[in-house]
Amino acid sequence: MRKSVDLVVVGLGHVGLPLAHRATEAGLRTVGLDVSETVVNGLSAGRSHVGGVDDAKVAAMLGAGFEATVDPTVLGAARTVVICVPTGLARDGTPDLSSVEAATRSVATELRPGTLVVLESTSYPGTTRDLVRPLLEDASGLRAGEDFHLAYSPQRIDPGNAHWTVRSTPKIVSGHTPRCAKRATAFYGRLVDNLVVARGTREAEMAKLLENTYRYVNIALVDEIALFCHESGIDTWDVLHCAATKPFGYAPFTPGAGVGGHCIPVDPHYLAAGAAAQGFPFRMLAAAHDVLGRMPGHVVERALRLLTEVRGDPRGARVLLLGVSYKPGVADVRESPARPVAAGLRAVGVEVSYHDPYVDGFSVEGRPLSRATELATALDGSDLAILLQEHPCYDMGQLVRARCALLDTRGRAAGRRVTLL
Ligand SMILES: NC(=O)c1ccc[n+]([C@@H]2O[C@H](COP(=O)([O-])OP(=O)(O)OC[C@H]3O[C@@H](n4cnc5c(N)ncnc54)[C@H](O)[C@@H]3O)[C@@H](O)[C@H]2O)c1
Repeated sequence: MRKSVDLVVVGLGHVGLPLAHRATEAGLRTVGLDVSETVVNGLSAGRSHVGGVDDAKVAAMLGAGFEATVDPTVLGAARTVVICVPTGLARDGTPDLSSVEAATRSVATELRPGTLVVLESTSYPGTTRDLVRPLLEDASGLRAGEDFHLAYSPQRIDPGNAHWTVRSTPKIVSGHTPRCAKRATAFYGRLVDNLVVARGTREAEMAKLLENTYRYVNIALVDEIALFCHESGIDTWDVLHCAATKPFGYAPFTPGAGVGGHCIPVDPHYLAAGAAAQGFPFRMLAAAHDVLGRMPGHVVERALRLLTEVRGDPRGARVLLLGVSYKPGVADVRESPARPVAAGLRAVGVEVSYHDPYVDGFSVEGRPLSRATELATALDGSDLAILLQEHPCYDMGQLVRARCALLDTRGRAAGRRVTLL
């Protein structure tokens, strides 16, 4: 029989590993469970695969007794289990909850009376109550709220953000019953400085979707403003600058080549699907989806026009993409808009390479993109550079002085050879 552990984190990715780190730091005896041997072997050997939790932090975790495993029987020894597995999209764009179902089944097989089970994965309202709860109850014969505690607490982690950490970011907590909420609050109170208790699990699930849909819709709004301003010869970035000076009632967003990452492009589909299942058509989402989908194509179109101006024919031109991760200062390339931009340029015979200090390899439609490591040389050898991500290492002065033209999708550069989105 295993010694009991305070916490088992199921899924050691971008959400699970920082949570396990924080729990270990707070003195909880923590085990991480993952289906990936690569992840578990890497962590056991002291290697991190997640930005924000570096190797030194993994070493500190191991030193404090953290253990990573692929063995699900550890779940039977847990006082608390937190599920942090992916909730992506199926090929047809609908929610794929297969990982949540698989993880919940593993938990159900080992569930003991008194355990607190928390779902942190993002999903549509009702997932904890109507999907996770029956899977746990049916396989274990135990009842949520009576024999074990069930909770939902969305993760708000912001990769690359040194100020707002797992500990300092306020966390929403909710329970299947008030007693479940109380138990979950006691658990998270050991890890997080400020907790916000939602009325129930559906409110907490919905709040997470609102947060990310808010970004999705507002980015689509400024993207469409940018498209319109470009058509009309209005300076988009001056408009944004002016509007952002309003001290109340306005939150600034910036346009770009599209939205990326695991949350913003994905979560609104969960909201749309959850609403559609109840016969509720979410009109804002469809409009935002349409605008966001046009942005990579718009960047390609603008780049081709510039290449035609500088060298007559875009075919055979050399274009350097600056920053291919989905946001500044991180290595994560999931859903990065750099992919459709590169694919669109390649499709018309442009030679595309990339520079990104965070991203070691980047493939587009199964073909790797050539990586430039020496920025000055790469700029020299290109006809056009496209600034996609404003990584902290980029010096606008260097980009502006470069021999090649610059298409700046972030609105940061100014100069003779610079064109803003
Ligand atoms: N990445 C973010 O910034 C972020 C922020 C807030 C919320 N979320 C949400 O958190 C959830 C997790 O996202 P992530 O970015 O950490 O995913 P991830 O892909 O980085 O990591 C998920 C991990 O879960 C493991 N896994 C998959 N199925 C499993 C199973 N059945 N049992 C055990 N392990 C399993 C995978 O091997 C992987 O290591 C998603 O719902 C996501 O939407 C993510």
